[in-house]
Amino acid sequence: MNKLAIALTASLGLGFAAVGAQAQGAYPQRPITMIVPFAAGGPTDVIARIVGDHMSRTLGQQIVIENVAGAGGTTGITRASQAQPDGYTIMMGHMGTHGAAPALYPNLKYDPTKDFAPIGLAAGTPIVIVARKDFPAADLKGFLEYVKANGDKVNMAHAGVGSVSHMTGIFFSSVMKTKPTMVTYSGTGPALNDLMANTVDYMTDQIVNVAPQIQGNNIKAFAIATAQRSPALPNVPTTKEAGLDGFEVSAWNAVFAPKGTPSEITKKLNDALVKALGDEGTRKRLLDLGGVLPADAERTPEALQKLVESEVARWTPVLKAGTKTE
Ligand code: MLT
Repeated sequence: MNKLAIALTASLGLGFAAVGAQAQGAYPQRPITMIVPFAAGGPTDVIARIVGDHMSRTLGQQIVIENVAGAGGTTGITRASQAQPDGYTIMMGHMGTHGAAPALYPNLKYDPTKDFAPIGLAAGTPIVIVARKDFPAADLKGFLEYVKANGDKVNMAHAGVGSVSHMTGIFFSSVMKTKPTMVTYSGTGPALNDLMANTVDYMTDQIVNVAPQIQGNNIKAFAIATAQRSPALPNVPTTKEAGLDGFEVSAWNAVFAPKGTPSEITKKLNDALVKALGDEGTRKRLLDLGGVLPADAERTPEALQKLVESEVARWTPVLKAGTKTE
């Protein structure tokens, strides 16, 4: 057989091998849906799109974001938990959907500690107390005085029972001993629009959503609920600096797959997530928004499973007590 024929046969063989590998279904063979259980434009959506963008490059298939809002994120997570465990439906959950929900939804259709294959933590998100730009207070002290004096005349935005903005809002209200009127949105992206339109008064939201509008002086930030200030918001005092003890809380967002997803698939997904968190451009996008990057040891599926278990145990008594004062 002449050299050309040999070369052609070899390349055909390689071609068949590649097709063979594809045919064997080397995951992923097609785009992957990542369900975001809140409206587009909110913190969960923003984090999903940032990490999903780099994960797509590593996996060689597009991660397509599908926003499925409702019931504080539990509608979308319920749907994702019931999807085929084939790696083609994953989700971005968080401290609300996978921490608070069991305490607030007696008939919740999933158990955060049992019904998922954890993939990994994506970003920590400190909570910031923000208000509309013309809110009649110049600092946290004045804000607290006004909110206490005006009770349910003041309205607080949140993204549905069990969302991060809702659970941290309940926590904040219990510390302040106030009962604002709660206004529900499909996510804190839409809630932020109303805050900027001065049609809702305040909310406790994740920094990655509100940082750009604080930096742009379009809303007021009274304090950040962490022990240290955020590098992304150096002029925003901590709650302690601003004179409020007892309100320190950070949320987190993490990637999950349905229970039963094969380990070779969850390993590929975790590998892609870890590579995203190691990518300079991806890190910068998250850090510029005030996101907190997980430490290496926090990026494993096992670490996420432990976090979910501890968060359900932590928030259940707090929220059951808090909702009693509702
Ligand atoms: C969102 O993405 O809208 C938020 O995560 C909602 C929330 O949890 O408050």
